[in-house]
Amino acid sequence: MKMEEFNPDRPGDLVDPNTGWVNRRIFVDSDVHAMELQRIFARSWLFVGHESEIPAPGDYVTRQIGNDPVILVHSSDGKQRVFLNACTHRGAMVCRADGGNSPSFYCPYHGWTFRNDGTLHSLADKPEAYKNKINFEDYNLVQARVGNYGGLIFATFDEEAPGLEEYLGNARWYMDLFFKRTPNGAQVLGAPVKWVANMNWKYGAINFAADGPHALAAHGPISRMAIDMPMEALIEIAKNGPAVRMGNGHGCIFVPGPQGFPDWTGFDPQMVPLYQQTLSAGQISQLKNMFNGVMTVFPNLSWVHFPVTLSPKKPPINFFNLRVWQPTSASSSEIWAWFLADRESAEEYKQQSLQLGIQTFTAAGTFDQDDSEAWAAMDAGSRGTIGRQRMSSFQMILASEEDLITDFPGPGEAYHSTYSEMSEFGVLLKWREMMQG
Ligand code: FES
Ligand code: FE
Repeated sequence: MKMEEFNPDRPGDLVDPNTGWVNRRIFVDSDVHAMELQRIFARSWLFVGHESEIPAPGDYVTRQIGNDPVILVHSSDGKQRVFLNACTHRGAMVCRADGGNSPSFYCPYHGWTFRNDGTLHSLADKPEAYKNKINFEDYNLVQARVGNYGGLIFATFDEEAPGLEEYLGNARWYMDLFFKRTPNGAQVLGAPVKWVANMNWKYGAINFAADGPHALAAHGPISRMAIDMPMEALIEIAKNGPAVRMGNGHGCIFVPGPQGFPDWTGFDPQMVPLYQQTLSAGQISQLKNMFNGVMTVFPNLSWVHFPVTLSPKKPPINFFNLRVWQPTSASSSEIWAWFLADRESAEEYKQQSLQLGIQTFTAAGTFDQDDSEAWAAMDAGSRGTIGRQRMSSFQMILASEEDLITDFPGPGEAYHSTYSEMSEFGVLLKWREMMQG
């Protein structure tokens, strides 16, 4: 299948909602990428950090909103704030550390200083030198809108964007299963690991929304080792696991364990009563036999959660890996990945979860290496003059549209199989809507 001519006035047409064909240009073209930064990243609520990264007044971390650097800070007046990391004098970054604690940010060029609530504190010269010709309030740091759901802090500079709760919509029910399942919620286990991948950011977002069949092809050998389950059983559970299209581009899969799989495999047993106290019956029904939970919040936040063991003698333990697919160009992304755990969980469990997570996911993790190879291969095969004229197929949707689970307990549309491509294609439907403008 060959592409239609690309019409820059209608970039959303590159995704055909009726046939499941997607023009490969959306993954490799720098013009499309520039439009995405405007139409998607500057207009969406983007994840900038977890509240456990900035617990004390003065704590801050530096992040990205699209291609803009920002500072997420717990300001001295107790608020979570996000600022464009750019001096209001002439635009130099006022903070170059990954994180720390500070009452203020100091611009390295002319020495203007800003308090951690964004207000201008001091200038190179005395304020009187301006002879009342300027309004200093216009020189406070540029502040984003900030929202917090389940400890996840999101921000946007778009005044027109809907509120965060509305933006997340149905995704909240599913986010609760991971971030709000105990009274105190989740915490990060350290700073994010960052690495560069030769891939468009959407490959990751779509894969985590999520792609069932790749697991066996791309991760076959390591799956057998880390999951200790015969290949046939893995295929069976992936085929029979629900894929949920939540609307607004958010999607997930829940792969249940195979027959005889004990409830709460991999979870810290001490947490189970807390889950039962915190979540609804419908949420518990999904969590207790969840073997593999993978989700994307549009556009570029994803997570993966499942039990692994790298020793046949030890029972599996869940790891919980959160990441953003940070766009750096059409064909490259930075991946920033955190590990999380329930705050109330025992320290020993958290450490084991972290160690197993690092061995399987993140830059040195076996699963991430498999995926990175596959995504780089898609980039290489699609980037050329001929390659970018071809289409990518999500045509399994044509066979799956009727395949709804009618009694699924969560909101949104749940389809019978992680092979359905329905939740993955949901990411691209939202992409299409936002790109159309
Ligand atoms: Fe920051 Fe001049 S650019 S003080
Ligand atoms: Fe994968």
